[in-house]
Amino acid sequence: MRGIAPYVPGKPIEELARELDLDPATIVKLASNENPRGPSPKAIGAIADAVADLTRYPDGNGFALRAALALHHGVAPERIVLGNGSNDILELVSQAFLTPGDEAVYAQHAFAVYPLATHARGAKGIEVPARDYGHDLDAMAAAITPRTRVVFVANPNNPTGTWAAPSKVAAFLDAVPRDVVVVLDEAYDEYLDEADQSPAIGWVVRHANLVVSRTFSKAYGLAALRVGYGVMDPSVADMLNRVRQPFNVNALAQAAAIAALADTDYVAESARLNRQGLERLEEGLATLGVATLPSHGNFILARVGDAARIYADLLRQGVIVRPVAGYGLPEWLRITVGLPAENERFLAALALALNR
Ligand SMILES: Cc1ncc(COP(=O)(O)O)c(C=O)c1O
Repeated sequence: MRGIAPYVPGKPIEELARELDLDPATIVKLASNENPRGPSPKAIGAIADAVADLTRYPDGNGFALRAALALHHGVAPERIVLGNGSNDILELVSQAFLTPGDEAVYAQHAFAVYPLATHARGAKGIEVPARDYGHDLDAMAAAITPRTRVVFVANPNNPTGTWAAPSKVAAFLDAVPRDVVVVLDEAYDEYLDEADQSPAIGWVVRHANLVVSRTFSKAYGLAALRVGYGVMDPSVADMLNRVRQPFNVNALAQAAAIAALADTDYVAESARLNRQGLERLEEGLATLGVATLPSHGNFILARVGDAARIYADLLRQGVIVRPVAGYGLPEWLRITVGLPAENERFLAALALALNR
């Protein structure tokens, strides 16, 4: 346990406001890959309605939300497990399938929760070197041993924004032994161009070892409510349900997620604005001479050099971004795409910081 480095979240606005005696309203937070537009107004309306009954426990089976997701994805509800954020799905898989002595495979620079969830079970993490900052799926398949029980793949990956095309992921799945669970973490899928969006949920029928995880925290703008889900074989869902807390997704989250899922126009518009914002950040960073990685998410990784110094300087200017030294990327900062004015504020603050 002492060897586990705790997850470091993006700095909360209120915390920086307290530390620097700033007005929270003047602070820009581009540090946790949230949707800067917030959730659909329909989700807010559903929460207001659900507030009328806070006395009862939520539906522990999440019947209505699972039915809505089943319809949305064209799969049977028995294949869907709800999570307290998709983070919960990652934890549930590790609880159900990893014991001390087992191995989990994940990529260098991959999402920080994979090693955490692995080490918390006393299992061994096998970190496979990245190729061009992205997952080297061939090397990951080759790293699987008889002791490997789980492989984590983030597509797109956070914090690098790298992405593997569905054909590559399909070939990888074919190469993985059928008794090894593959968690395909698609937290940012809704941000991809429609043509690139993942068909992997449809693959759970022929790959009984595949768990596809999705979230309402990113494009759906509901990070505060903590709701995500996994799609998988019913036998795997049965395992996850054995270790799942009975009421892991609260009633407001379930109601909001149903409404958010139905508002497809809002999600599409969020994705469109994200692409515009991403282009603006790419262009602005290039103008400042800062290298970036091509991103497929709602954030961008920028090589600023002395990232610790630049991060601190930006904080003093009331702009919160995310240092990624913990991911083995000490020269880089990750910037979440904000509203147009927030992106401009960041670029102006970075220009000042770089010139000091
Ligand atoms: C790749 C990836 N997976 C999963 C998550 C977990 O998000 P949540 O628990 O809010 O669904 C995140 C959040 O940053 C992420 O970047």
